[in-house]
Amino acid sequence: MSQRSDIRFLLNGRAISLPSVAATDTLLDFLRIDQRLTGSKEGCAEGDCGACTVLVGRLTKQGLRYEAVNACIRFVASLDGCHVVTIEHIRGADGGLHPVQQAMVDHHGSQCGFCTPGIVMSLYALWMEVAQPTARQVEVALQGNLCRCTGYEPIIKAALAVSEYGTATADYLAETRDGITEQLQELRDGARVVTGPVDNQAIVPADLDDFAAVLVENPQATIVAGATDVGLWVTKFLRPISPAIHINQIDALKRIEVADGAITLGAGVSYSDFLPLVQEHFPFLLDYWNRIAGWQVRNMGTVGGNIANGSPIGDTPPVLIALGARVTLRKGMERREVPLEAYFIDYGKQDLHAGEFLESVTIPVPSTAQLNAAYKISKRRDEDISAVAVGISVTVQAGQITDARIAYGGMAATPKRASAAEAALIGRPFGSATFEAAAQAVATDFQPLSDWRASADYRLLSASNLLRRFYMEHSDVDQPVRLVV
Ligand SMILES: Cc1cc2nc3c(=O)[nH]c(=O)nc-3n(C[C@H](O)[C@H](O)[C@H](O)COP(=O)(O)OP(=O)(O)OC[C@H]3O[C@@H](n4cnc5c(N)ncnc54)[C@H](O)[C@@H]3O)c2cc1C
Ligand code: FES
Ligand code: FES
Repeated sequence: MSQRSDIRFLLNGRAISLPSVAATDTLLDFLRIDQRLTGSKEGCAEGDCGACTVLVGRLTKQGLRYEAVNACIRFVASLDGCHVVTIEHIRGADGGLHPVQQAMVDHHGSQCGFCTPGIVMSLYALWMEVAQPTARQVEVALQGNLCRCTGYEPIIKAALAVSEYGTATADYLAETRDGITEQLQELRDGARVVTGPVDNQAIVPADLDDFAAVLVENPQATIVAGATDVGLWVTKFLRPISPAIHINQIDALKRIEVADGAITLGAGVSYSDFLPLVQEHFPFLLDYWNRIAGWQVRNMGTVGGNIANGSPIGDTPPVLIALGARVTLRKGMERREVPLEAYFIDYGKQDLHAGEFLESVTIPVPSTAQLNAAYKISKRRDEDISAVAVGISVTVQAGQITDARIAYGGMAATPKRASAAEAALIGRPFGSATFEAAAQAVATDFQPLSDWRASADYRLLSASNLLRRFYMEHSDVDQPVRLVV
């Protein structure tokens, strides 16, 4: 296998080759400081405000796909083989303002202007996917863009009107698509990239087997998938991550397979990549899924990273545990499978050996007898971390509960099943008394902490009320069960 040291990608209309890229170099610094492309702004440097939003195009099985991402937490080394598009590159058919920009001007979508380039890039990405979005689609696309001036209404009006100003098929990026695809294919030379100074090195493995081998050689390395956690270690905590192994370009980690009543997703599948599967196989999860971070973070962040980071407040583990998910862990060519709940051992401690990585997650498709739900309690509706999250899966046959799996996040040092609450349900009739008993049993399952997200009392009350809510939503009762307040 060949090896090179330069990172190669396309930036707007130019080919870029950087001979040495440090593991901690971010795209936003590269754009603003090295390239003097200062249209992309730095508001928070942690993926929250969207002022730095750019598009990154990559080759997928479906062809060239552009996504809105946060340049502030995207590492330059992860861009090998990609097309970066910044606000400076977008234009209308006649070389003037782009339809999104013109709509923003005409609808007074900008005041101080700091957020505007990021908002234009997010709306541009939306317009490429959906020509005439609904107000809800606009809101979801803008979850990761903060504006302190406008109150959003003029921006939403602009977003709804973009198609009056031009069509995405006649857009500059659409017209150059074939040429860009060809250039990106040429950049894919199958080489391993090792770049940056020895004390701040980035490695981009050639493929999945190469990744497994590189990790065995460097068991102390930092694996970087979407960088939506690791990016903040660098920008907020100034933590060294060398050597960093970038895995977001490995196609084999992005595979999604539906077979034998289960869905297997590679650890590199992003939230956005998985969204169509959520719509088809787990429709109950749609609202919950769209409340994980904002659109840019969902385009970058992976389900694998959310599990691997071992956080007790990650949003996917509770619902995946409730659905009976298993994870495949790999070291070199050796693989082992463990139930997801067994992966979390204690706070900061996972069942992951040195040199081992998470390769895939397998989720059984629910049977028709299963009732499922996932709920998230957070201070803000969008773009916020959970205080409490829960995944609930209850199997009901002939009015009796034959199985129950309930897993909470935010209630213990790890995502954890509520075994007493489950026991209160199994073998009992599907009725309000049964769920009341389960709601009360939650107090024997958990002794949560108080922190800035929620007090222990609030967490316990919310956790038990979510079981009452589950019953209300899945029963035919006309009189709603009263929530305890
Ligand atoms: C603004 C913002 C909002 C957020 N909101 C939410 C939210 O609402 N809910 C939520 O749950 N999270 C949220 N997050 C956190 C983050 O987006 C998720 O945890 C995400 O899933 C992490 O995935 P990633 O691919 O970006 O991981 P990375 O940052 O690349 O990695 C995370 C950790 O996992 C390890 N890792 C990654 N892949 C593997 C692998 N295959 N094998 C072994 N180890 C691996 C890394 O070494 C690192 O320790 C938010 C983050 C930001 C910046
Ligand atoms: S600067 Fe705020 S999201 Fe990047
Ligand atoms: S126009 Fe000022 S922050 Fe949005």
